[in-house]
Amino acid sequence: MAFCPPLIHFLRSTTILSLLLTVSSRPQAIEADKFIIKEATVDEIHAAFRENKLNSRQLVKFYLRQIQKLNPVLRSVIEVNPEALDQADEADRERKREKRPGELLGLHGIPILVKDNIATKDKLNTTAGSYALLGSAVPRDAGVVERLRKAGAIIIGKASLSEWAHFRSDHAPNGWCARSGKGRNPYNLSADPCGSSSGSAISMAANMAAVSLGTETDGSILCPSSYNSVVGIKPTVGLTSRSGVIPISPRQDTVGPICRTVTDAVRVLDAIVGFDELDEATKKVQEYIPVGGYTRFLRLDGLKGKRLGIVRNPFFNFDDGSLQDLAFKRHFRTLRRMGGLLVDKLEIANIDKILASSSEIIALEAEFKLSLNYYLKELLVSPVRTLADVIAFNNKFAREEMIEEYGQALFTASEATNGIEYKVKQALSQLQELSSKGFEKTMIEYELDAIVTPGSDFSTILAIGGFPGINVPAGYDDDGVPFGICFGGLTGSEPKLIEIAYAFEQATKIRKPPEVHFPKKSFI
Ligand SMILES: *[C@@H]1O[C@H](CO)[C@@H](O)[C@H](O)[C@H]1NC(C)=O
Ligand SMILES: *[C@@H]1O[C@H](CO)[C@@H](O)[C@H](O)[C@H]1NC(C)=O
Repeated sequence: MAFCPPLIHFLRSTTILSLLLTVSSRPQAIEADKFIIKEATVDEIHAAFRENKLNSRQLVKFYLRQIQKLNPVLRSVIEVNPEALDQADEADRERKREKRPGELLGLHGIPILVKDNIATKDKLNTTAGSYALLGSAVPRDAGVVERLRKAGAIIIGKASLSEWAHFRSDHAPNGWCARSGKGRNPYNLSADPCGSSSGSAISMAANMAAVSLGTETDGSILCPSSYNSVVGIKPTVGLTSRSGVIPISPRQDTVGPICRTVTDAVRVLDAIVGFDELDEATKKVQEYIPVGGYTRFLRLDGLKGKRLGIVRNPFFNFDDGSLQDLAFKRHFRTLRRMGGLLVDKLEIANIDKILASSSEIIALEAEFKLSLNYYLKELLVSPVRTLADVIAFNNKFAREEMIEEYGQALFTASEATNGIEYKVKQALSQLQELSSKGFEKTMIEYELDAIVTPGSDFSTILAIGGFPGINVPAGYDDDGVPFGICFGGLTGSEPKLIEIAYAFEQATKIRKPPEVHFPKKSFI
């Protein structure tokens, strides 16, 4: 008999048939049987692909459903890619054709969400969250997106952000942009999600994609990663191409992964690093990219012998018995137990000066005008061609862009600059001096591998020198809001930072997914 008897039995029973139908129209139930997508890592997903427990279509569908369900509350996604399912089917076909599926590319069939200031030349818009760029057409994929596609990734959508990567207004809330409203922290809807890569971090926390990309000029990867209990890698400036990224400053901007685990972040980093002829800075740091990639630095004994600087003032001033205080005391013990050498009570000579200095903003305002105007000029089609056009657009559409509430003070200050003139040059040389006589001197003098700080507190010091940092989940405060720990190092020190971050993560495993409580309708 060709028929399988149990199947006939099933078909006869209408109750069971309808049950079957409901089950198959709700793939969660099937996936629960085979493979749980929630919190799955890239490696686990690839293993499930190989074992035929999962395909890319199911994976993309799962995340699209998560977005559909959670985005009305979290507002972390601006657009989903209408071609994502087709691309998933194509990935599934490729996998079937491949004789040695183990040799498929690093992110093959993996859905990635990219921050809305990173250009994709497809049906998705690239707008930095602003209506001013809606309807613009980019000349090409951003350098990092080109690499993602080559690695087999599926761009599932665009993540929301603090509009213009928080360089329009100095008092708009973190995570707010005109196109999607204010992004929310999934661990506590009334808490700050931080920014500007808020949408990427929120979406990772709430399992709305497998992996994601953010960008940082000063804190924009590290801070939201810290507040959303995810891992963020802020790479050395130039390690990843900034071509096709809506800019603030070529001196400080960098593109990096925001993911749920260090391993996932390293998989993404491996896919996006490298030379791009459209970004000069990628040439200078080529030498730091290890042959064979960063994977081999995922070592359980990665903390062994590492010299870690602790700058109590101003970073660990708390001794108040708070959850944060207790957590960091525990973490210091863990770092020691894992073989780390804590060089405690360090001083960074000019730390107060760095944190109080206006040099950074003076430099950024001048650099923003120049680099944004260049970005806008390159667009194939655009409603705005200069920063002045964007300012005029915002005034014209003041209600949509909430100009009365948040203003555009950074835009107008930037528009008033006049290139890299004397005052800016002075600011730039002050920044360089602050960095070399402060952080760099301390790192070299004490032969440190990294400086350890709470999640986002160190971002300015890393920003002004173009240095890398990694945030790893470190705990949750009284309001249930996550906080992170940051390991920051000198140019090109990603291998060491990855060793440290991975060993810490594996020893602590603090990340847990949020339970998103849906608010009353009026709150949505
Ligand atoms: C991009 O923006 C246009 C409006 O200009 C809109 O019609 C289109 O749906 C957007 N694309 C996506 C993928 O949402
Ligand atoms: C969320 O944070 C607010 C303070 O912003 C706090 O009052 C509230 O209790 C927190 N909610 C939870 C569930 O912890």
